[in-house]
Amino acid sequence: MVVAIDGPGGVGKSTVARRVASARGLGYLDTGATYRAAALAALQSGADLDLPAAVTTAVGAATIEYADGAVLLDGVDVSEEIRSAAVTAASSKVAAIPAVRAIVVAMQRSWVVDHGDGAVVEGRDIGTVVFPDALLKVFLIARPEVRAARRAGDHEAAGSAVTEIQAALEQRDHADSTRAMSPLRPADDALVVDTSDMTLEEVIAEVLEAVDLANDRPRLL
Ligand code: DC
Repeated sequence: MVVAIDGPGGVGKSTVARRVASARGLGYLDTGATYRAAALAALQSGADLDLPAAVTTAVGAATIEYADGAVLLDGVDVSEEIRSAAVTAASSKVAAIPAVRAIVVAMQRSWVVDHGDGAVVEGRDIGTVVFPDALLKVFLIARPEVRAARRAGDHEAAGSAVTEIQAALEQRDHADSTRAMSPLRPADDALVVDTSDMTLEEVIAEVLEAVDLANDRPRLL
């Protein structure tokens, strides 16, 4: 059983997904972290990010693992390193390459199969592409200035001005929403929640209620 939580950067997906997973005893997979690890693999290999074949070769040669919230690249914990501004910028480019997505999505699906009791999976295309049969699909949104203010509170953005953060977020959202493969968009059957004027606790409560309703809903098999 998969709960998909998608949406743009800075909307609070990770916090909400982590809390919902722990409240219902489910696994938690941050798929953004897997694209970030792929981007770091490409950067470390020295591949030209504008050459999809070179990036794909680098990502294909790397071992990306996700365990207990930590991301390992070739056995090394890179959980901190993947939050750097350089990796953040590279991740959007790398994630637009179809062959890279194929490698990373295969890893995401097998992670969920290995966590048989169910998982909350967070990303951009989870409800539309990776798990189109998810039990519940949530798409979180918030006004850009609200997302920038939330991101400013993250360790990743420490020291940056909110206006700079907002510009970088909007640039990345534009790239993620307009790419040809698996663009950021809500699934037709997603529950879209505008979190702009909600507290974190209110968002979590709304998602938990939707999870419980979906669990009780009779399903046609
Ligand atoms: O959620 P995040 O900021 O950690 O994601 C990093 C990048 O990876 C982001 O630019 C979009 C991309 N991504 C994606 O294309 N598909 C996903 N399922 C998750 C993230």
